[in-house]
Amino acid sequence: MKKKLIAGNWKMNGNLAANEALLKGLLTGVGQDACQVAVCVPSVYLAQCQTLLAGSVIELGAQDVSAHESGAYTGEIASAMLKEFGARFVIVGHSERRQYHAETDELVAAKAQRVLSSGITPIVCVGETLAEREAGKTEEVVKRQLAAVIHTNGHCISEVVVAYEPVWAIGTGLSATAEQAQQVHAVLRAQLKAATPNADRIKLLYGGSMNAANAKSLLAQPDIDGGLIGGAALKAQDFLTIIAAAS
Ligand code: PGA
Repeated sequence: MKKKLIAGNWKMNGNLAANEALLKGLLTGVGQDACQVAVCVPSVYLAQCQTLLAGSVIELGAQDVSAHESGAYTGEIASAMLKEFGARFVIVGHSERRQYHAETDELVAAKAQRVLSSGITPIVCVGETLAEREAGKTEEVVKRQLAAVIHTNGHCISEVVVAYEPVWAIGTGLSATAEQAQQVHAVLRAQLKAATPNADRIKLLYGGSMNAANAKSLLAQPDIDGGLIGGAALKAQDFLTIIAAAS
């Protein structure tokens, strides 16, 4: 059976002291036999976290990346730079990037391609808004978002991680039910199966108010291979409980 992946998305939270306390708490509690675990931290803290996590089972990730290789893109961070600081994962196309930074499906696909070419695993986020769900467009939206990434990345699609994050569930405390999440995961799995013979080994994460209380039932679903965790990843005990549920 493939190991589940629990990835924390710290978003724009933390500081040197808080990061150290959080990672020390996680390192004390996470066992060698745990599921795959990662923390996606603000890029300025990659160096700090790389040092704190050296030799541990917790892997490091970033939250965004430039679609360009290098050059005159003030303020942007290249995938190769993230790689130098130990990033194994990069979140691309998070709904907050799509919403506040007008990231399109095509840009998200290009970012995933750039990340793959530098040997990092993109965690590609897809998900519908509440209005889209209520209009019965959930499938159409997530399939369109994933199709762009499949189209741009061809057979490399088997190297990505996909996170289904319904926008209405992010940071709201209102998680999708296990059944709602599984339903969409099954749609995404079928779409991946049509694109690659290796679709079964692609990890499909659920994200959106996953927490210590609901993780077990979400992670028990056949097509849910892990979680992308925001708020609950900032508290060591909660994150450890989710990791335990996945291990
Ligand atoms: P949340 O965030 O767990 O706080 O809902 C998840 C995410 O945005 O990745």
